[in-house]
Amino acid sequence: MRKPIIAGNWKMNMTPSQTVKLIEEIKPLVAEARCEIVVCPTHTCLFAAKEALKGTDRISLGAQDMFYEERGAFTGEVSCESLLELGVRYVIIGHSERRQYFAESDETVSKKVTKALEKRLIPIVCVGESLTQKQRGVTNETVGLQTRLALFGVGAGNAEDVVIAYEPIWAIGTGMTATSAEANGTIRRIRGVLAEMYNPETSRKVRILYGGSMNAGNAGELLSTSDIDGGLIGGASLKSGDFAQIVGNLS
Ligand code: 13P
Repeated sequence: MRKPIIAGNWKMNMTPSQTVKLIEEIKPLVAEARCEIVVCPTHTCLFAAKEALKGTDRISLGAQDMFYEERGAFTGEVSCESLLELGVRYVIIGHSERRQYFAESDETVSKKVTKALEKRLIPIVCVGESLTQKQRGVTNETVGLQTRLALFGVGAGNAEDVVIAYEPIWAIGTGMTATSAEANGTIRRIRGVLAEMYNPETSRKVRILYGGSMNAGNAGELLSTSDIDGGLIGGASLKSGDFAQIVGNLS
């Protein structure tokens, strides 16, 4: 009942012309896909991406971040309204790289999630534990708290629209993937937190993705589990063939 999503987080890669080329390569490869497909280029590549995606409804556009105010003196920030005008439907919020390098906090994540939902952008909210937290045995507590704080003040009706991405920090860009049992187990715990915050029905409706060194080789196993509803892919989303192969697991 949950429609799976494969989303590519291109991070700070690709220029506008490279964006067009990659999208042109991906389009024919995923023409038969039955899952939702999202590509998230940098803000400066969104216009080029929008143009390249004309004529296909297979692939949606996502942004990698947004600001929670609508306009004003916020140098360097990007508003929901701008993103919507560029055809953006999804927005990644609270990626661990933003938390680590750009002082993103649970509080700003929460403000962004609320604003995105108000503007009818679908937030892809990232949660995940560090290696130390994993080693200390506090993975579930960490992601549970991040989830509670990110969705603080969001009602059950809106919560159903939120997408959560469980991305263990130690797995991002390292080639170390969580095992499918580990990832599925943690995602089940996140679903448990949602059931406590809202109700079991809402928790069953929320899509929860896995991210962290997911690639064409390991995606099949991760995506065949009970609770992983897709992937947020970094490195492997920059190669059209690998990305399409990951999508192919859900077709
Ligand atoms: P990698 O797939 O490169 O590990 O990145 C995952 C990620 O951070 C997606 O948001």
